[in-house]
Amino acid sequence: MTPPTALTLDLDQLATHPGRVVIFADPDAPLPRAAKRCDRLSKGAVARAVGASDFAALAPGKGLTLAYPAGMAARALQIIRLPRKTTDEHLRKAGNSVGAAQGEDAALIALDTLPAREIALHASLRAYRYEAMKGSPKGPLGAFLFAVTDADGAKPALDDAQALAQSVHLVRDLVHAPANVLNTESFAAQIAGLSDLGLEVEILDRDEMDRLGMRALLAVAQGSDNPPKLAIMRWKGADGAPLCVLGKGVMFDTGGISLKPGAGMEEMTMDMGGAAVTVGLMQALALRKAPAHVIGLVGLVENMPDARAQRPGDIVRSMKGDMIEVINTDAEGRLVLCDMLHYAADRFKPRAMIDLATLTGAIIIALGHDRAGVFCNDDALAADILGAASAVGEGAWRMPLGAEYQRQIDSRIGDVKNTGGRPAGSCTAAAFLERFVPEGMPWAHLDIAGVALTKGDSAHAPKGASGWGVLTLDALIRAKFEG
Ligand code: BES
Ligand code: MN
Ligand code: ZN
Repeated sequence: MTPPTALTLDLDQLATHPGRVVIFADPDAPLPRAAKRCDRLSKGAVARAVGASDFAALAPGKGLTLAYPAGMAARALQIIRLPRKTTDEHLRKAGNSVGAAQGEDAALIALDTLPAREIALHASLRAYRYEAMKGSPKGPLGAFLFAVTDADGAKPALDDAQALAQSVHLVRDLVHAPANVLNTESFAAQIAGLSDLGLEVEILDRDEMDRLGMRALLAVAQGSDNPPKLAIMRWKGADGAPLCVLGKGVMFDTGGISLKPGAGMEEMTMDMGGAAVTVGLMQALALRKAPAHVIGLVGLVENMPDARAQRPGDIVRSMKGDMIEVINTDAEGRLVLCDMLHYAADRFKPRAMIDLATLTGAIIIALGHDRAGVFCNDDALAADILGAASAVGEGAWRMPLGAEYQRQIDSRIGDVKNTGGRPAGSCTAAAFLERFVPEGMPWAHLDIAGVALTKGDSAHAPKGASGWGVLTLDALIRAKFEG
């Protein structure tokens, strides 16, 4: 992805730019000077478009496109409706429109005095396609050239947007990558490469996890030829106790011996979505040199049926010591996360822990594809997460924890069952995790099974992997874990 560039707005360039030119207009206000120049070049076409009733009917941030406008070298002139008094939401939508229209040539976006960050970020977030598996890729999308009054002044905003967008794109690439290409070892190797950015990376292998007693995590991995890995990434941009972010990294989830039905099983290549968001977030923090102390942990395993695979009915000892009765080998994510949560709390004594996981199909039934489920044992942390999500425009909704759900997973012969049956499937999954969080430790579990991969375009992304969570957690860290 080509980083966006800032240049000083030169009205003469509007006539000569050969790709797409983007201008902004409010039907109830005089045309801004860039729009006025395009109007003069096109002999009044802009004013006629902006004065038309269908332009007035556009939602703020939406636009229309004139093809091969007379008097201009441009292939297309995109006119975006933006009220003179704009909100961040308008700017995000405008950026989304800019990104959705992006082709292989460069777009010259006449921001003039408009703030650059939101538009640049959302243009880049929308302008994404996954071509790594194409024999003949179309090649990269064109660059965004932001024409502003103060190019030097806009540079930090664009750098910030680029750090985030690039990290969201990384998440999507990871989630799209098939399981024969991105396996536990290649993912761990890619994570180790992030040390170039100043992240401290440590990778634990099977023997080390065995010594630590992570038998729940290892039980999931034991049916696979791909060895389990636990990757730990530390960004120490500040002193003090860290925030721990933990991601479920099931590279492929067949269900194990409790095998999933064949139809749609190929989607389970996205079951490492929580790990991908964790890695993308850590990269974003490093790129923007965040003044925060954050540790990312991802547990990488593959859930396969095999002669050595765990069986339904098996009982495994977690690192914490609780004995887990494995009712269903397809409820594997919680087995991975429970050892990670205990380990992270024990070793790093964090201020708070947040896990991300494509944990349950039930959260899709409850909330659909636009809101992630937020389970949290601390009202202040929950409010901070929901506030951050709403500030960046990612959907999130609080879900309950409670004693009823705990009772549902009590085990007769062990301590806890890994499933509680069909009722409240997402809540019993969260309740299972809650048992592995020490008393008093603020913790949130984000069930991203619905939002990680979408069948249609979502608020910030084209159809496919969304990268949901990088923006929310980055905003949370800026607001609550810096300075
Ligand atoms: N990875 C799945 C959850 C999932 C489903 C993610 C659909 C994305 C889309 C998880 O490991 C799983 O299989 N959960 C089971 C739990 C059940 C066996 C208690 C489920 O949701 O059916
Ligand atoms: Mn599963
Ligand atoms: Zn899974």
